Amino acid sequence: MSDIQKISPDEFAAYVAALFVESAREAVQDSGRFTVALSGGSTPKAIYSLLGSNAYASRVDWSAVHVFWGDERCVPPDDAESNYGMTYGVWLSKVPLPAENVHRMRGEMKPEAAATEYTQELKEVFGSRGWPRFDLVFLGLGEDGHTASLFPGTAAIHEKKQWVIGHYVPKLDMWRLTLTPPVLNAAHTVAFLVSGAGKAEILRRVLTENYQPDLLPAQIVQPEDGTLLWLVDEAAAAQL
Ligand code: 6PG
Repeated sequence: MSDIQKISPDEFAAYVAALFVESAREAVQDSGRFTVALSGGSTPKAIYSLLGSNAYASRVDWSAVHVFWGDERCVPPDDAESNYGMTYGVWLSKVPLPAENVHRMRGEMKPEAAATEYTQELKEVFGSRGWPRFDLVFLGLGEDGHTASLFPGTAAIHEKKQWVIGHYVPKLDMWRLTLTPPVLNAAHTVAFLVSGAGKAEILRRVLTENYQPDLLPAQIVQPEDGTLLWLVDEAAAAQL
């Protein structure tokens, strides 16, 4: 099942933060914990800042939350490019989340070793029988149609065995770590967060053009037994 929610720009962060709070409440009620994989980049920063604000301090049972990342740049955690670094600075450093519940992809390691280590960390939390099923996965959408670090033309799009891979992305001249499509598609809920006029064209293409994940990797995200949400602001939805 997929659903597109068009949200006014000034309500976007609060709308997504409310989804986080509700997803956490449901998951903790059902299973005693809430597992979430976060997206990086710039879109979620305002959302994460809100979740780190006093207004949200008491709305989540932070002790039951396990935070992971959908992807990470292969840089140290204090690097300006680090998804973890951004998230920790505006959010995780401000809420009583147990340190052991913050599952950082170690971008400072050699990519292959970091991917192996993260896979092991996922198995410790989710078990190793079948794909890890996140309660919630936040994903962004790049203007080239990538999501997480699944970039056009990369083999990662078609990975079917590994849970996490580290790969070199030629167009960025960077190494990246990313969860793979089978892990993303095992989630209970996947929410794309798309905002700004700059995403209007690619959002239209991803949602309306034929299935061509090599060109539009975001199209590979089709949860097997879960909900796909497109949370888009009005500017990004302009061509829909
Ligand atoms: C990353 C992300 C990536 C991001 C998109 C959108 O590490 O950059 O996880 O997939 O979500 O590139 O980024 P913006 O929100 O900055 O447009």
